Amino acid sequence: MYKDFYGLRANPFNVNPDPRYLFLTRHTEEALACLTYGIQSRKGFVLLTGEVGTGKTTLINKLLEWLRLQQVATAFIFNSRLNVPQFLDYMMTDFGIACEPRAKSQILLRLYNWLLDRYQAGETAVLIVDEAQNLADEVLEEIRMLTNLETFTEKLLQIVLVGQPELEERLRQPQLRQLRQRFTLRAKTHALSLEETKAYVQQRLHIAGANGQQIFEPEALANVHRYAAGIPRVINLLCEHCLVSAFVDQQKVITPEVVDAVARDFELGDDAAATTPAAVLAPSPEKLDLAEALRSPATLADRLLATELKASPTKGNYESNS
Ligand SMILES: Nc1ncnc2c1ncn2[C@@H]1O[C@H](COP(=O)(O)OP(=O)(O)O)[C@@H](O)[C@H]1O
Ligand SMILES: [Mg+2]
Repeated sequence: MYKDFYGLRANPFNVNPDPRYLFLTRHTEEALACLTYGIQSRKGFVLLTGEVGTGKTTLINKLLEWLRLQQVATAFIFNSRLNVPQFLDYMMTDFGIACEPRAKSQILLRLYNWLLDRYQAGETAVLIVDEAQNLADEVLEEIRMLTNLETFTEKLLQIVLVGQPELEERLRQPQLRQLRQRFTLRAKTHALSLEETKAYVQQRLHIAGANGQQIFEPEALANVHRYAAGIPRVINLLCEHCLVSAFVDQQKVITPEVVDAVARDFELGDDAAATTPAAVLAPSPEKLDLAEALRSPATLADRLLATELKASPTKGNYESNS
């Protein structure tokens, strides 16, 4: 809609976990290095945790891209509402292991033989499980059993478990302590600092085709960082709405006032700045609504409609720019 107006080829602030947009901070680099090291050295079991919207799935998609380039067999499970048979079935299918629905012992034997074949060919296989904080205890226990697939010296299956900080809490519970003891490496994603937020927004605009002209004033980005508490998902949502809002007013540069107005629309008050990143999105239902609200097109549509009526003399512009 606003792409032509700002000289962009693509929507820079899509909330899809698109690895092409991956912005590397020191923390992200460390996390990625930890994951790749864990897999290459066949350490067996890596845990990746971080608050909602801090880039876990984006990082995992980058890892998957890299693994596929190396022709490493991967299975990626992102549906955490599976029971044990569904989980195993999904994993086998994603690895491409032909397996009729059978007893669990037969499935595991089939998997073990397949992993041994790969091991003998000098290859490994990686299972990545996202949103693992929601997995049933039985499924987590099954994952622990999968870490037992090994030779005398090496793990046959590399497992990356990804989840929100609640996952760490769950792993502290007595029934999951054994699983916790299996982790050989831990990685984390974090909220962005102010400087990182500025660079993050510029990088996304650049990848989306911006030719270097200033779209966000530095002070506007300072406000984005404050309201979003540095969480990339919220930064994206705020920036996206700022672009739409400024486009409606045919304003080429996003000022701090635009950011304030958008934040007000979504009730992202200054209190958001005082809360920790954890509180902004995850545990409080109020804040979760807020994140949902940012995603909601309804308010936006109302606003667009109102402005369109108000600005009918230039309506043609909007259409040609859309
Ligand atoms: N390091 C990063 N580089 C680029 N985009 C990121 C980064 N971290 C998060 N994002 C963006 O923020 C949004 C949420 O990221 P996501 O990976 O879904 O977070 P999580 O899985 O931790 O909830 C996505 O649009 C994603 O592209
Ligand atoms: Mg995710």
